[in-house]
Amino acid sequence: MTLASETGFPLLEKRSSQCDLQLCYDHDAIRLYDLALDTTIHVDFVEGALSHRQQFGGGRGQAIAKAVGLKHGNTPGVLDVTAGLARDAYILASLGCKLTLVEQSPILFTLVEDGIRRGLADESSRDVLNNFMNLVNADSVLYMEHMDQETRPDVIYIDPMYPERKKSALVKKDMQILQRLLGKDQNAERLLKTALDCAGKRVVVKRPLHAETVGNTKPDMSISSKKTRYDVYLVNNEL
Ligand SMILES: C[S@@+](CC[C@H](N)C(=O)[O-])C[C@H]1O[C@@H](n2cnc3c(N)ncnc32)[C@H](O)[C@@H]1O
Repeated sequence: MTLASETGFPLLEKRSSQCDLQLCYDHDAIRLYDLALDTTIHVDFVEGALSHRQQFGGGRGQAIAKAVGLKHGNTPGVLDVTAGLARDAYILASLGCKLTLVEQSPILFTLVEDGIRRGLADESSRDVLNNFMNLVNADSVLYMEHMDQETRPDVIYIDPMYPERKKSALVKKDMQILQRLLGKDQNAERLLKTALDCAGKRVVVKRPLHAETVGNTKPDMSISSKKTRYDVYLVNNEL
């Protein structure tokens, strides 16, 4: 099966007790199941937290919107180089940004692609998802290095894996699956450095509120919400 060769995981019709992490097709969605944590994740743009945040999330006043520079009359294009489960991308798309999403993990890429398939079939998420211009399965450093300089994105958005917490009970189960699937982030500094060379206007890095900056590189400004800080690096003297 193509999916198995692309992801290294077979797509199972039933959960198996033989493998630790597995992709299952269940209730019209591809889900990643973690046997040890006994939990699954899938991407759902129609119901649940994302659709709730789209309706009640605070619009252009929320920290992520300010961080990417959304203002009246300015809706930047965004390259999300750490797409993950496309949650942040969906919030930005619901605020009108056109996005390209790049994700290195073929498994997460598959989950997002499947979420988009279902989301495009539903009226409540279709318009927002039409702002996803492209979903790419690639290493973003290589992607940015080979990008056409004429078509620089206004904003490059980076959300590296959060540093591991000592008490795993503090980490939500879906983040624990991601940590088990992907391991520690090793390339946030490389992503930031490359992004600073490629962005048209600014680079935004999402961090836990009190975490150190990536690569000890001082941002031009930081915008914080309750648990999260967005470090903003302006390029080409953007004001
Ligand atoms: C914390 S998650 C991002 C979550 C995402 N912002 C969301 O809202 O769902 C970080 C993601 O970045 C991806 N990633 C890390 N380095 C990457 C690289 N060099 N190229 C592409 N994806 C990368 C990881 O595979 C992981 O899925």
